[in-house]
Amino acid sequence: MRWPAGALRSPRFRQLYVALVLSSFGDWLGLLAITALTATLVEGLSAQSFAIAGVLAVRVLPAAVLGPFAGALADRLDRRRTMVLTDVLRGLFFGSIPFVAAVAEPRPALAYLLVASLVVEALSLFWIPAKEASVPNLLPRRDLESANQLSLVATYATAPVAALVFAGLGLLSGVLPVAVAELALYVNAATFLFAAFQVSRLDVRPAGAPAAPADDGTPQPTVLASIREGLRFARSSELVRGLLVGMLGTLAAAGAVVALGRPFAESVLRGGDSAYGLLFAAVFVGIATGVGLGPRLLGDLSRRRAFGLSIVAAGSFLVLLSVVPNLAFAAVAVVLVGASAGIAYVVGLTLVGGEVDDEVRGRTFALVTSLMRLTLLLTLAVAPAVAGAIGLRTVPLGGVELQVNGISVVLLLGGLLTVGVGVASYRQMDDRPGVPLRTDLYALLHRRRRPPVFPGLFVAVEGGEGAGKSTQVALLRDWLEAAGHEVVVTREPGATPTGARLRELLLDPRSDLSPRAEALLYAADRAQHVDRVVIPALARGAVVLTDRYVDSSLAYQGAGRALDVAEVADLSRWATQGVRPDLVLLLDVDPAVGLRRARDVGAPDRIEGEALAFHERVREGFLGLAAAAPERYLVVDAATAPDEVAAQARARLLPLLPAARAAVPA
Ligand code: TMP
Repeated sequence: MRWPAGALRSPRFRQLYVALVLSSFGDWLGLLAITALTATLVEGLSAQSFAIAGVLAVRVLPAAVLGPFAGALADRLDRRRTMVLTDVLRGLFFGSIPFVAAVAEPRPALAYLLVASLVVEALSLFWIPAKEASVPNLLPRRDLESANQLSLVATYATAPVAALVFAGLGLLSGVLPVAVAELALYVNAATFLFAAFQVSRLDVRPAGAPAAPADDGTPQPTVLASIREGLRFARSSELVRGLLVGMLGTLAAAGAVVALGRPFAESVLRGGDSAYGLLFAAVFVGIATGVGLGPRLLGDLSRRRAFGLSIVAAGSFLVLLSVVPNLAFAAVAVVLVGASAGIAYVVGLTLVGGEVDDEVRGRTFALVTSLMRLTLLLTLAVAPAVAGAIGLRTVPLGGVELQVNGISVVLLLGGLLTVGVGVASYRQMDDRPGVPLRTDLYALLHRRRRPPVFPGLFVAVEGGEGAGKSTQVALLRDWLEAAGHEVVVTREPGATPTGARLRELLLDPRSDLSPRAEALLYAADRAQHVDRVVIPALARGAVVLTDRYVDSSLAYQGAGRALDVAEVADLSRWATQGVRPDLVLLLDVDPAVGLRRARDVGAPDRIEGEALAFHERVREGFLGLAAAAPERYLVVDAATAPDEVAAQARARLLPLLPAARAAVPA
């Protein structure tokens, strides 16, 4: 199993993770302690509820107002320093609360407590984007998903532990002369200081970044300008737009469930507190299941597709919930709503982390989180109001009297809205246009094994005839070997003895091959190649550089021979056991130029001898593949000087390299 070992293999992530677990634990403990302390500072039940509501309000307010500023600033500041400073300050503020409560009168003490909570929350707004934006720099991309799962576990699983510790401290304080809340706040302060220490020893910059930020004398943009830039980026990026729409829609639905849960349990399900308690537990069980198991259930389904789909699922279960007034059914539906939302949440975070550039990542996270909180606040206020306005009515419907409950109506609308939002974000973000969804779902249902993960790195070099692939393979090999990596250079077709015979057959102009026979022979060569050469090398931790791979079949047999690209892809997936390159370097060449270059070398083989139009389709095929998944491709114009091409390839490869990367010369 890849989870949770994946991300924890990285020592730098482990170090940050310890800090994260401790700060979340401290945060929950602090929240419990502060609410308890507040209750001791005021007299009377309604005053107490107001004061506690005040404490909760100041925890949400900063995010709504300051979120985007903090995110923009976090992108401009040194992330490690930001995290250390905010942790130290949060520790000091938490530690000062019990001290002030002990020496001041109740009123000023309460005021101080509110102000301190506000400040602590504002500081967290800087800490969160700095942390979120750092994580992708500490890990190979393939471990990001497990890192996000682990972060969510750290954030939520520490809550019950904190509650237990709080209760435990209650027992202790019978012996010690300090009140529970005060003791808890001191413990909390200590966890933040320890987290600060932990982060202070951590390098959170992208691998290969210069030791000090380059100061080239150009003025830094102002905070406002960088927020504008973040918004512009969000508007211009289909991915971020799709993510925002999806996350906000799901959250509005979840907010409606939370806001209406209590009245729903009572007036629709006709249960009391225990029914509410059951639904409440069901949401958390669902979310935890979705976050924990989601990525494994999704196999290698495109994450962009999975995001929209899980939102549609959440909306559909919400619709079911709203139309069937039965407690047992509702509990199951709520678990499913939670699980779908949980999947959407991890997948969404992973997409932001993996596909948004380092420079704007903090801002994007901050934008996403503050819009999320605003949406939540808004639905918490609006949903009950709308439900109340509708109330209980009887609607005549074709001669039948229909009993309508405002709560069910709002849940139904919330569900439908979520389905719509899911469809919109699926459309917006789809990275496999042309491949019908049922193909993916069928593959998901029938082959749940996810592609194997190896310690090595797999790079494919692709391109039309005469693109200069072999030159690049040689340059990359020299660079990697100089850095101490084991490098295996290989090619398709023909890297194995069997493959060499297939190659002869494939390239001999006298072979009369039908397009499907040709596709199968390339696939046979590939199956042999992956099994005998690629997998053993990757398993040893080597860097494998292959001259051509799956994409050649998609471009030549798919686009060139006009076979169904999805079918050729399925064939290759079967042949390769799901082993995909971590990066594809595509050398884009005008076929007229490339063919001339190739023909200078020798007599054209069976494929080179094809018409120019064939090679033009191949080129379009390659470019289409790269455009659909830019995160896995580096496209370079083959007319660029070889050294320049190699430099671009090195820059892209550097952060992907296995452990020995510290040794790589920049
Ligand atoms: P090469 O040695 O020039 O790369 O020759 C391999 C030829 O085979 C080239 O013309 C591209 C073609 N080819 C395919 O059509 N499909 C494939 O899957 C692969 C790997 C290569």
